[in-house]
Amino acid sequence: MHIILIGFMGAGKTTVGRTLSKETGISLFDTDLLIETRAGMRVSKIFEISGEEEFRRLETETVRELADTSGDWVLSTGGGLPLKEENRRLLRQAGTVVYLRVRPETVIRRLKGDTSRPLLSGEDVRDRVRALLESRSPVYESTAHLTVDVDEKSPVEICREILCKKRLKIQNI
Ligand code: S3P
Repeated sequence: MHIILIGFMGAGKTTVGRTLSKETGISLFDTDLLIETRAGMRVSKIFEISGEEEFRRLETETVRELADTSGDWVLSTGGGLPLKEENRRLLRQAGTVVYLRVRPETVIRRLKGDTSRPLLSGEDVRDRVRALLESRSPVYESTAHLTVDVDEKSPVEICREILCKKRLKIQNI
């Protein structure tokens, strides 16, 4: 079983990934974490020092390696990862791609005061969230095998829905 979570910043990919991993007992990978560990610095620092293009290159490198990783796993991805055609192809080949669809209001509420996301730092965060989400939505939709709306649902409810949609039965959820 390979489950890949995609979606906008603040959709809960990391939290849902952790919950899925805990509930099913399968391994969890997170592209941002893998990149940070390898680079020895936070994503925001990579953006600052090397720029977004270099970060996107590291994302592709990470996805390529994960696509070859055997065993069961769930993967949380960075919100911009599916923007590259090569990444979209690799993700769809590697497993079931699940789009965690979130409304802009939820993102704005959840990420209020967040300083870890370079694309949402500075002024006009609300407008930027709306514009970015609008432009990225078709990309997420067309990449995913399944879509789950996440607003007002708990991580466990979202996991249950993902697994239901995948027609998998698990116990103790
Ligand atoms: C990004 C999302 C972030 C991180 C980076 C860029 C994006 O991950 O990869 O700041 O372009 O949407 P999260 O989606 O986990 O916040």
